[in-house]
Amino acid sequence: MKISVIGTGYVGLVTGTCLAETGNEVLCIDIDQSKVEQMQNGVVPIYEPHLDILFERNIKANRLKFSTSLNEGLDHGDIIFLALPTPEDEDGSADLSYVLGVAKNIGKAIQNYKVIVDKSTVPVGTSDKVREVISKETDVEFDVVSNPEFLREGFAVDDFLKPERIVIGSSSEKATALMKKLYKPFVRSGNPIIVMDERSAELTKYAANSFLATKITFMNEIANFCEKVGADVDKVRVGMGTDSRIGKRFLFPGIGYGGSCFPKDVKALFKSGQDNDYEFNILKSVIEVNDTQKKILIPRIDAYFNHDLKGKTFGIWGLAFKPETDDIREAPSAYIIEALLKKGAALKVFDPEAMQNIEKKFGDTLTYAKNMYDTTKDIDALIICTEWSIFRTPDFDKLKSNMKNPVIFDGRNLYDLEDVKNEGFYYSSIGRNT
Ligand code: UGA
Repeated sequence: MKISVIGTGYVGLVTGTCLAETGNEVLCIDIDQSKVEQMQNGVVPIYEPHLDILFERNIKANRLKFSTSLNEGLDHGDIIFLALPTPEDEDGSADLSYVLGVAKNIGKAIQNYKVIVDKSTVPVGTSDKVREVISKETDVEFDVVSNPEFLREGFAVDDFLKPERIVIGSSSEKATALMKKLYKPFVRSGNPIIVMDERSAELTKYAANSFLATKITFMNEIANFCEKVGADVDKVRVGMGTDSRIGKRFLFPGIGYGGSCFPKDVKALFKSGQDNDYEFNILKSVIEVNDTQKKILIPRIDAYFNHDLKGKTFGIWGLAFKPETDDIREAPSAYIIEALLKKGAALKVFDPEAMQNIEKKFGDTLTYAKNMYDTTKDIDALIICTEWSIFRTPDFDKLKSNMKNPVIFDGRNLYDLEDVKNEGFYYSSIGRNT
């Protein structure tokens, strides 16, 4: 099939590349000329494991192409994916100007039947709006389908190639049949393609992300309470998670959820509730608790150093909002850095992938370490913000000889309490006794 993907963020790029992998002719469109040139030269503009191999293979096979011309994209694809940004507006709602702007252009350019697919995370009712905008410009037949993505950064290629489910919101049999044909190679394992109306599909995405964010937040509150009553959240987590109704996943407490999706989507669903005369009390709490959780280490660090952080130097391991990505959007690390700088501390930071992004944000206010051990030279304490595998089994002797004090504040519970204690460290983590 001929596919166009408008927008080459991580969703668009992964979608386009993986659809080319099953033999489709894919044209990806982006307004950013330098990014398009980079991609035409075979360079993947984001860090996403395994994407580079598929990218190279499909470019070589002539199945994956790039252009800045929206009209070329609209002409090429029988199916046109909209993978455009839906940033958070000032009031927390999703800004639809990119999606509706492209819809208008589709209306102007459309010559024959097309299926327009909303892949971006958009509020309930957006497919109707897209349909309305296109209809104003043309009489040519088209369908609008909602096809939310459930890709996790860092696992996006795997999630796309082996999805647990595909959700298609469509009220047109013709469009549904085309979408099923497109996705058939990805569900050979028997995982379902779930067809529903557009509004339910749009809400499915928000409900899924908000539920997961709520699950994490619930565990963060249980962790905070564990500290008050002398319980160990790691034990509670295992005890709870073995109940198959609860499940083991997404029960890991920490310094809050971040990223480009959960924070934005929870706020957008809350706002969407208000717009439709419904108050999502649970989401309001999730937002508030997560904001506090991101900074939960700060008062602890402050208290440990007698409320005087001026002249102290801290090392930070992990800057990306989670491992296997270079993304620092809404990353807890950024909140911790800001708070510590404000208190007069000096910071040395290290992340396996996110150094460039954090440098863009903080410039010369930080010291950028060469590697994880370089971060720890002459520091008063080490702070762990992201659970990269490389931080899981450090050489504790090397750390001790590098650091001024053997003190670790761990926002991701990487170590066994006994182990670090035996190594001679003061160790503060989340939901476990110090
Ligand atoms: C999330 C969803 O998992 C995807 O299904 C969805 O498609 C995507 O958003 C999206 O809407 O595009 P992602 O943001 O890449 O994916 O990352 P996750 O792996 O879900 O992690 C989100 C946040 O939750 C991270 O900050 C992570 O550290 C935190 N988290 C996750 C916890 O604090 N504890 C856990 O147990 C799990």
